[in-house]
Amino acid sequence: MSDPFRLEAEYYDRIWGLADRYKAEVEFLDKVLKEHGARRILDLGCGTGGHCIELAKLGYDIVGLDISQLMIEKAREKSSMEGVKASFILGDMKQAHSILKNANIRLPFDAVISMGSSLAHMLDDESLGKILVEVRNILSPNGVFLFCVSNAKCLRDDRIDQLRIDNMIDEKDLQMALLCYNFRDKTDQDILVWNTIWLVNDQGKIDFKIRTHPLRWYRIENLKELLRSHGFAPLHTYGDTLGHEPFRSDEHGTIFLICRKEARESQSEDTVWENVKESQPCRC
Ligand SMILES: C[S@@+](CC[C@H](N)C(=O)[O-])C[C@H]1O[C@@H](n2cnc3c(N)ncnc32)[C@H](O)[C@@H]1O
Repeated sequence: MSDPFRLEAEYYDRIWGLADRYKAEVEFLDKVLKEHGARRILDLGCGTGGHCIELAKLGYDIVGLDISQLMIEKAREKSSMEGVKASFILGDMKQAHSILKNANIRLPFDAVISMGSSLAHMLDDESLGKILVEVRNILSPNGVFLFCVSNAKCLRDDRIDQLRIDNMIDEKDLQMALLCYNFRDKTDQDILVWNTIWLVNDQGKIDFKIRTHPLRWYRIENLKELLRSHGFAPLHTYGDTLGHEPFRSDEHGTIFLICRKEARESQSEDTVWENVKESQPCRC
């Protein structure tokens, strides 16, 4: 299978994967994971392994899964350079349970995390629902799912339909301009089509590429309903990935959600809840 994120993986750490960001986010993740007694963690859409490596340094037993071969290669390289123990598995998170089983990864996990824009690639409720079924199957009873997505209510029109500079690097070995021309998907206004133009001079090799990724922004009410109907109780929502502020839908561009796998009586783990159950009172 060709790598759908090869170009992004090539430059990921130079643009987005900054060490300070991972350290700060992992400090907050660590606090939440400790509150829930979680030690064994799966990172869905782990990218180049930034969160996994920081969590492994804190002694967590960690596995990262990503659909991009190059992201996984970079994550393995970085973790071995840092001398930490973490496993990285190639695969689509929509089939996470069977991929982990086939790779002889021990199940269940105490917690699943998904950071950055990994879940933005799930473009509709059905795709996110598939992930939630996988996560339920992977988690231990009372296990927790911690993830962040973007808030559709804060997707402003001034980000759309105009050419913007997304990123610039001007260093000795690499000069790069990442321009973007974003637009809303015609059939779903909550999907931002992230249309990028990459201008790269990488050690003398000049490159020009256009890349398009549709990214879903989420509505909090819809998200909570989906979680409940798939057997998760939303526990807390924050408006950032550092746990500084409780989420307010008119203000925050980020939704960081902590939810817990609910006990289920007589149904198979492999099927979605047919009846929407009322979960525990939500403190979000
Ligand atoms: C924006 S990156 C975030 C990486 C990392 N979580 C971080 O915060 O640095 C999104 C990642 O999701 C991965 N991804 C997208 N769709 C996926 C899928 N269906 N299954 C597994 N990984 C996926 C991409 O390969 C990419 O590494």
